[in-house]
Amino acid sequence: MPSTPMVRALVSLGVTGLVVAGLFVLIGPQYYNWIKALHVIAIISWMAGMLYLPRLFIYHCSAEKGSVQSETFKVMERRLLRAIINPAMIVSWVLGLWLAWSGGWVGAGWFHGKLAMALALSAVHGYLSASVRAFAEDRNTKPTRHWRIVNEIPTLLMIGIVVLVVVKPF
Ligand code: HEM
Repeated sequence: MPSTPMVRALVSLGVTGLVVAGLFVLIGPQYYNWIKALHVIAIISWMAGMLYLPRLFIYHCSAEKGSVQSETFKVMERRLLRAIINPAMIVSWVLGLWLAWSGGWVGAGWFHGKLAMALALSAVHGYLSASVRAFAEDRNTKPTRHWRIVNEIPTLLMIGIVVLVVVKPF
């Protein structure tokens, strides 16, 4: 079966949907704080990767194409994306949606703001994922400065999200 990015994305979405449905049916509200702890652990892993990957791109830009250094960065970027960032994002979403449903937050103003920012973070995730492929195929044309700016976006979104969920200003 061909494994195009679209097929992989659809399979991930399907699996995520099934896991969310299973969680909603099987897990009772008494586990709320445990699920929240797991959500925060997954978020830390997701954010660690989202902050580190553009930093790897910055170093990768200055490595000559085809050099041992450049090939090493490719392996590091691919492993970071596949082993940490992708699974951590899926777990963060699944558990976050469960918390929203179980905690009755779906109608809350702060939750809508948080959801919008989490979607923006996921869009940055998609862009970084496509960029890992571009670097792997030596197709990156963006300068170091571009990756320095991209590096700041997850940081700003993270600050906004944490303030919204902890302070709940509206
Ligand atoms: C991916 C989609 C996400 C959804 C649907 C979601 C949803 C939620 C919900 C409903 C809660 C429970 C709030 C409460 O009990 O007061 C929560 C907790 C939390 N979330 Fe998320 N979240 C998501 C992503 C994120 C991201 C990206 C971050 C940080 C960058 C984050 C950080 C936190 C923190 C720190 C808490 C604990 C807050 C507290 O106990 O005061 N979440 N999340």
